[in-house]
Amino acid sequence: MATQADEAKVSDRLPLTADEQQLLDKGTLTDRAIQARPRPYYTAMRKGDPIHYDAGLNSWLVTRHEDIWAVQSDPITFSVNKGYHEIQARGMHDEFRNYLRTHGGGYFPDAIMSDPPYHTRIRKLMENAFTAHRVKELEPRITQVVSDLIASVADKGHCDAVKDIAVPLTIRIIVEQLGLDQGIESKISRWSVAVTAQISAMQTREQMLENAAQIAELQNYIIGKMKEREAEPREDMISDLVHAQVTNADGTVEKLTFEEAVSLVRATLIAGNDTTATAIGNLFYVLTTKPGMAELLESIIDDDRKLNRFVEEHMRNEPPVRALSRMCVKDTVVNGTTIPEGAHMLLVYDSGNDDETVFPEPRKFDIERSNLGRHVGFGGGPHRCIGVALARMEVKVAAREIVRQLKDIKLAIPVSEISYVPTVATHTIESLPITYERR
Ligand code: HEM
Repeated sequence: MATQADEAKVSDRLPLTADEQQLLDKGTLTDRAIQARPRPYYTAMRKGDPIHYDAGLNSWLVTRHEDIWAVQSDPITFSVNKGYHEIQARGMHDEFRNYLRTHGGGYFPDAIMSDPPYHTRIRKLMENAFTAHRVKELEPRITQVVSDLIASVADKGHCDAVKDIAVPLTIRIIVEQLGLDQGIESKISRWSVAVTAQISAMQTREQMLENAAQIAELQNYIIGKMKEREAEPREDMISDLVHAQVTNADGTVEKLTFEEAVSLVRATLIAGNDTTATAIGNLFYVLTTKPGMAELLESIIDDDRKLNRFVEEHMRNEPPVRALSRMCVKDTVVNGTTIPEGAHMLLVYDSGNDDETVFPEPRKFDIERSNLGRHVGFGGGPHRCIGVALARMEVKVAAREIVRQLKDIKLAIPVSEISYVPTVATHTIESLPITYERR
């Protein structure tokens, strides 16, 4: 039976227009047109049905800011472990796992995609490799990598901002940070696609096997590197993860198992790549399509405080990670809606960041917003992005170097021709041809 509090919640629904009602009745995030431009769908949900069942996805979409916070702050009721592992290679689990056991050195479940208390232990050990201090020290090196890359295309006057800048830039940085070999970059794109395809729920059996072969190659490569670092540590994240340890209050020492460490190296390589490249691709998109954005960025480029706020408002306004999943472990009422046991859910960060009750005029880009740090573009709660300091640094350095080296940046295709990677997880532009002049 609904409680008084539940009824009060339900009464905050707003009346919908006929178009909005139709979107809720017929729309689904699996529809590529809605995936590419989902804002009207999100607005209708936030107004009239904030925890909306999307039949096409067979998933409950959590769209209001406060509800996203409530769900991500309760990792026991809303499990990451089940949400992730049960959709991995959906319907083909056993074949996928056996393939990796035979060809990829083993099946290594993603240790960070887990629930407390196990997740708490893994997270503490993983943080060894991600201290903010270390990232701050990296700024000069990141600047060098980004500056060299942009300089290599600056004289051409045109390039693909996604394929020639955003993607290689983030791959080069993670390759250096992890301590992988230069020259491995082209393989990393393929490996990333293969890992993310396992949770896209859109693979055929043939595609699953092709992707599993890529993942096997990735694992064999990582295992080789880890063995080297076990014997001889270096100043890189693989060494940090292989040798990570924390001492508990009672004096006992925790370490990662080898299987856990393999999964965390793999997760670091993949999680930081597409996301940050997407953020930089989206930066080019707003600089070339939103009036006043290029001028704003130019005017604040030497003001570190304002530049940090620019990056943060960009993460709110164009969040690269659009939605991530959870599974509800028991019937639970969230904001007046009962989510059944075993239901798959998506936390729609993209919509939470547009919640007009938290961010007035959400589509306005305003670096002086008093609460811009409340956005959910990096998640929140125990699973909040562990790479946030590195991500912010990469986007900030990219923003600075773009302005220092390029001017008069223009989109070389009509906005309507921009295509997006077909996934509900990120809002990623596939290709963004631009023209510009060297400054
Ligand atoms: C702009 C870039 C990035 C964005 C927008 C982003 C976004 C996110 C979000 C939304 C989550 C929350 C997941 C959840 O609650 O289920 C997350 C988690 C995570 N991110 Fe990022 N991320 C970015 C960059 C990075 C980088 C550079 C790395 C590493 C090099 C990284 C590694 C991770 C890992 C390992 C987790 C899982 C943490 C956990 O479950 O405890 N991310 N990220």
